[in-house]
Amino acid sequence: MSGNGRTYNVAVVGATGAVGKVFLEILEERPFPLKSLRLLASARSAGTRLRVRGETITVEETTPQAIRGADFVFISATDEISREYAPLAAQDGAVAIDDSGVWRLDPGVPLVVPEVNADDLAPGKRLIAIPNCSTTPLVMVLAALHPANPVRRVVVSTYQSVSGTGAAAMRELTEQSRQVLDGARDIPGSVYPHQIGFNLLPHIGSFKEEGYTSEEWKMVRETRKILHLPDLPVVATTVRVPVYLCHSESVNLELARPMEPGEARTLLRAFPGIEVLDDPEHNAYPHPVQAAGKDPVYVGRIRRDISHPAGLALWIVSDNLRKGAALNAIQIAETMIARGLV
Ligand code: A2P
Repeated sequence: MSGNGRTYNVAVVGATGAVGKVFLEILEERPFPLKSLRLLASARSAGTRLRVRGETITVEETTPQAIRGADFVFISATDEISREYAPLAAQDGAVAIDDSGVWRLDPGVPLVVPEVNADDLAPGKRLIAIPNCSTTPLVMVLAALHPANPVRRVVVSTYQSVSGTGAAAMRELTEQSRQVLDGARDIPGSVYPHQIGFNLLPHIGSFKEEGYTSEEWKMVRETRKILHLPDLPVVATTVRVPVYLCHSESVNLELARPMEPGEARTLLRAFPGIEVLDDPEHNAYPHPVQAAGKDPVYVGRIRRDISHPAGLALWIVSDNLRKGAALNAIQIAETMIARGLV
């Protein structure tokens, strides 16, 4: 943090959502230099009162007027809201930090994980995108290893929690789990196309080119953009699992040269924001229950990929609402403050 003494007007669009709630929790934990805080959501939530840093704040409907005067506008609501409000906030002189997929691949919009590509936060850039919640932990791991031993190919399979879809999906998992325990079978989904309780779905987003989903293409394209490696071969299979919090990823890497697991552990431990939890003899490895509510990206099961001489296999777990969303957004704002960009 800068300690420049300035404080900032902040608006949170989507303050009542799954990411918004965690955003407010993180504001309680970090010394973010707040001058004022406006909480915005849909008209449905206007009038709801939320406690933040000892104050009660009334949620307002999202309108152009409500974001005026903000220094930072954090947006995690719907694609339509991001499409309209992110440029509006930037035009009004704020820095918009957007959690949607709308702006991420726009060549004029920095897509940032501060530990990886903070230098993309150039002066004059007022609309900043944060990556998809499964891309962020992956690029951190790749950025830790790549300078020592270039990554040549990435194969990733994800196990993504329902909170990535939002609060309604978390309620659906609870309700369907109860129904299954009460004897129901093949429950129709309302948020998802099929039952998610006691099930898993190899389908996140919508089906696109080559039979890959939009979520899988996000992992490919966002990873290349953040790492400035436009030709990096990346392939993803993204799977929704009946877990409330945290996204897990099984990753197989092909490197330029063989890498001992011990060297990978050393590089990963040295990388800010990553914690290595890798002691299989004592059953120590990351898992969603262990990582939920925590800031670091956890990496374990680090081992040679025995199918390739320069291969490495590992397992990542990170809280998708924290480093995957709200925490990364706040860290971008903190980095901009520290670098004098606001
Ligand atoms: P609301 O709670 O009033 O519906 P989640 O990802 O958990 O589903 O949360 C989505 C967030 O986006 C919520 O805060 C939700 O507010 C907000 N939101 C949804 N639609 C709109 C809208 N049309 N205008 C502003 N905020 C919206």
